[in-house]
Amino acid sequence: MKENIAEFRNVVIDYELRKYSLRAVNGFSMPVKRGKITALVGESGSGKTTIASSLLASISEPGRVIAGEIIFFDEDKEINVTKLDEKEINAFRWEKVSMVFQGAQSALNPVIKIFDQFYETLQVHNNYKPHHERINLTKEVALQKVTKLLEFVNLDVDRVLKAYPHELSGGMKQRVMIAFSLLCDPQVIILDEPTTALDVITQDFIFSILKRINEEMGIAMLLLTHDIAIVSKYADYIGVMYGGSLMEYGEVEAVFEARNHPYTLGLINSTPSIHGAIDNLKPIPGVPPDILNLPKGCPFAPRCDKCMDICKEKHPDNYDVKGTLVKCFLYQDQSLKGNKA
Ligand SMILES: Nc1ncnc2c1ncn2[C@@H]1O[C@H](COP(=O)(O)OP(=O)(O)OP(=O)(O)O)[C@@H](O)[C@H]1O
Ligand SMILES: [Mg+2]
Repeated sequence: MKENIAEFRNVVIDYELRKYSLRAVNGFSMPVKRGKITALVGESGSGKTTIASSLLASISEPGRVIAGEIIFFDEDKEINVTKLDEKEINAFRWEKVSMVFQGAQSALNPVIKIFDQFYETLQVHNNYKPHHERINLTKEVALQKVTKLLEFVNLDVDRVLKAYPHELSGGMKQRVMIAFSLLCDPQVIILDEPTTALDVITQDFIFSILKRINEEMGIAMLLLTHDIAIVSKYADYIGVMYGGSLMEYGEVEAVFEARNHPYTLGLINSTPSIHGAIDNLKPIPGVPPDILNLPKGCPFAPRCDKCMDICKEKHPDNYDVKGTLVKCFLYQDQSLKGNKA
């Protein structure tokens, strides 16, 4: 089986607004490794949610993939996600790839009890299947499946199933959403800021559950977060985004240790949880990029203390630095030695 469960290949995504087009993702290429946790980090607006939701064919309106390919490697075939029609999308979404959306707790329907929300979703997806694959989905069958999932996320099944969403705490609702994302046995789950707005202890508890889901069920995860400390604790691979581009990608340990890209270095130096003393914190000077007015060359050039003339003129390629891909001209000499990615 292929090592990658999915691949983004040179993906460009625009939000086509009435007066202009906004390029939220600009030539993004990255693998998602089967059974591993891949984190995608970057400042607000760098394009994390946009690129991740394209893997689910769920970019919010008016977003469109205007170039590139998103490939999902199913057991026996390649699925080109951008080419799916509506019927195929219904069968793909949640069954191959699911997503816990940013602020997902509010996605629960406030007037329907939790069990009924699960049951309805199971029914809808059973009906998407071809006739010969449909099961006789009684309430008992659904209850068995849902019970297993709620137990897996450490919830008190009897209480939660009968509850309305407002009767549950934020951490409980988030665990319900995680159980929801598992409902159709996906191979990849996208987690968009799964613990923002939760306290640190609840946050840690939820991540330990996610890690268990990853390890015991073998489900790959794409974790979108601002939190470098969470990445170093739980993720296997990391992609660093800036202004719609992937600036660096590799194994977490290698990326954190080498800190090749000046933006990666800045991001780590400005993170309090990695450095002990608050005095050592060095925020990245300047402001996040205006994606309507990106510079001609590297998007990070205006804030980069290692900026060279070429950086202002041209977009860097990806250079392979000991197995880590770095989009930065500082490393182009290594590519001339035959190391270009
Ligand atoms: N539905 C939309 N319509 C128009 N523009 C959008 C839409 N959704 C996102 N954008 C724009 O696309 C860019 C990327 O946004 P995106 O939400 O993907 O970033 P993000 O990295 O997920 O940010 P955050 O960390 O705040 O969640 C931003 O400039 C944003 O304003
Ligand atoms: Mg987002």
